[in-house]
Amino acid sequence: MTNSWVNQAIEKIEADFQRSADTHLIKLDTPNLLGINIYLKDESTHPTGSLKHRLARSLFLYALCNGWIKEGTTVIESSSGSTAVSEAYFARLLGLPFIAVMPSTTAKKKIQQIEFYGGQCHFVDHSSKIYAESERLAQQLDGHYMDQFTYAERATDWRGNNNIANSIFDQMEKEQFPIPTWIVMSPGTGGTSATIGRYIRYQRLNTKLCVVDPENSVFYDFFHSGDQNISCCNGSKIEGIGRPRAEPSFIAGVVDEMRKIPDPASIATINWLEKIIGRKTGASTGTNLYGALQLASEMAAKGETGSIVTLICDSGERYLDTYYNSEWIEQNIGDLTPYQEALEHFSSTSVLNCPNSN
Ligand SMILES: Cc1ncc(COP(=O)(O)O)c(C=O)c1O
Repeated sequence: MTNSWVNQAIEKIEADFQRSADTHLIKLDTPNLLGINIYLKDESTHPTGSLKHRLARSLFLYALCNGWIKEGTTVIESSSGSTAVSEAYFARLLGLPFIAVMPSTTAKKKIQQIEFYGGQCHFVDHSSKIYAESERLAQQLDGHYMDQFTYAERATDWRGNNNIANSIFDQMEKEQFPIPTWIVMSPGTGGTSATIGRYIRYQRLNTKLCVVDPENSVFYDFFHSGDQNISCCNGSKIEGIGRPRAEPSFIAGVVDEMRKIPDPASIATINWLEKIIGRKTGASTGTNLYGALQLASEMAAKGETGSIVTLICDSGERYLDTYYNSEWIEQNIGDLTPYQEALEHFSSTSVLNCPNSN
């Protein structure tokens, strides 16, 4: 039996998608990096400001088609903020109540955006508590816990259908090196890396996936140890990425290499990038790009040519009081100077010396 509300809900999401444009692939201007081209897929330009717009659309469709969301269902999500902003947008589109469960440190701008879309914010004091609290609320309210950390990797059609990987390879088609040597991405759920990695394999492409992890996160150690029960620590300071547990959506088997990126390197890199593109980006973009610059420097040293693609995950306007506030940086991240100097050196020489390499 068909359910007309569910049919209409799916139609509304599909019509919204039909009205949407794809995001731009920016070619970075790095005149001294000869024979290596770096590209940034700019996911900050989605209507809700981050790469999570794609995920939210997929999660709602997945839940509707599974019969998990019906007319009037309260939708609950655990999030570091970006996914909740995008899900609040889709909940409003469908006329559904939405509650975001987030750490109390979540950027104020994201909280305002969730509330702007009619969502409710529910805070916990540590990022490791968002899962249990979401489950509890869903039970109490007879709602649906969306659970991006479990379902991100399977809600997206990784074989194509206009997913982010499909879009990147299409947009690269007319470039000097159309098949990137590397794609670099940082994991929150791990869903974007899973989609990109699976797509590369399914299309039998000669591209490697490098996943970059911030401090205070277990993904790097999990990748090397395989210990599913691993946990840590103080909570990532790079919003959106780095987790205290190995999330179910992180698919280690599709990752070719992982790197640990120091938090000051991520912040120094968003300042470096702003000088090139004239725009502020979120800190996870810095983590991505620092990893990409390390790879570029290593390729240059070996005399290799090719292209590297990474992502602008969201805009820096969300983080003016944190990543763009020197006092906050001093208290939470530490001294950026060694990384700023390393990046300046890279600009003129193509050599990125890692300040604390050991
Ligand atoms: C700003 C930002 N960057 C990167 C990511 C990581 O993406 P994924 O969850 O697909 O691993 C997220 C996820 O929430 C995010 O919000």
